[in-house]
Amino acid sequence: MTKPAVYQVSDWVGKSGDNWVSNQRRLDAMLAAFGEAAIAAADPLPGEHVLDVGCGAGASSFVLADRVGAEGRVLGLDISPQLLERARQPGHGAVDFALADAATAELAAQAYDLLFSRFGVMFFGDPAAAFGHMRGALKPGGRLVFVCWRGAAENDWVRLPMGAIRGILPPQGAPDPEAPGPFSFSDPLRVERLLAEAGFADIALAPFDAQIPFGEGVTREAANDDALGMAFAVGPLSRALADQDEGVKARCAEAVRAAFAARPGERSVLIDGAAWIVTARNPG
Ligand SMILES: C[S@@+](CC[C@H](N)C(=O)[O-])C[C@H]1O[C@@H](n2cnc3c(N)ncnc32)[C@H](O)[C@@H]1O
Repeated sequence: MTKPAVYQVSDWVGKSGDNWVSNQRRLDAMLAAFGEAAIAAADPLPGEHVLDVGCGAGASSFVLADRVGAEGRVLGLDISPQLLERARQPGHGAVDFALADAATAELAAQAYDLLFSRFGVMFFGDPAAAFGHMRGALKPGGRLVFVCWRGAAENDWVRLPMGAIRGILPPQGAPDPEAPGPFSFSDPLRVERLLAEAGFADIALAPFDAQIPFGEGVTREAANDDALGMAFAVGPLSRALADQDEGVKARCAEAVRAAFAARPGERSVLIDGAAWIVTARNPG
């Protein structure tokens, strides 16, 4: 099997899933503002049934469950057993979780008012087919709302570390913009085309920008260390460095640390994040 490019993520059941679990609390802090914006756009109502696609450790699922209340229902779907195990930890709230590939999962027909996702829908091999399949689970008139990243060049969690190592590591090669991965929906025309092909109507993309707390600590110095640790553990830099020797890793660490140190923030490194909030409707 060929190794995926550093901008792709495919092993949610393997190393990526493990890394995500280890860094879950900090990743949730990073993604919180984006999830809140998407949930505000989705406006879940008491009593509604919601499918949270690629729910991971369930942060958005629990917020959705609060919004739909005891009369409503939330099902979180994910392919990663490690992340679902985290989601199912006791005391988290009233959500059902299922281990399944959303592209092919057996879903109750026309059962949901809302298909929601926080950064969980950019990894399908055949996105139009996957969205078409999921649309079958939506009631006629039901909403699709998800948040996905815009381009890597607008997102500091990639732009800063990958920019910093330019000149130390050989060029990583231009990522295939349509390959499954965090940036596969950065092109708004592609998203519109895929969703239209999947049978959705009223498709709209709204840009949403937020500062992301990347790394945390009791001092700014500690936050820088933490941000560096995160960049080395999760994301394209971690994959680019996987096969490098310790000397190269040390030089990269120095360069990435300097890039983070230039950013504002007191007890975290504040970096810029750019996403689309995508909304659409199932015409029936
Ligand atoms: C970037 S993480 C986001 C997790 C979570 N939504 C959050 O915001 O914390 C992407 C998630 O999508 C899941 N995923 C990827 N492909 C999937 C698929 N085909 N079906 C279901 N889940 C999938 C991964 O396992 C992972 O948990």
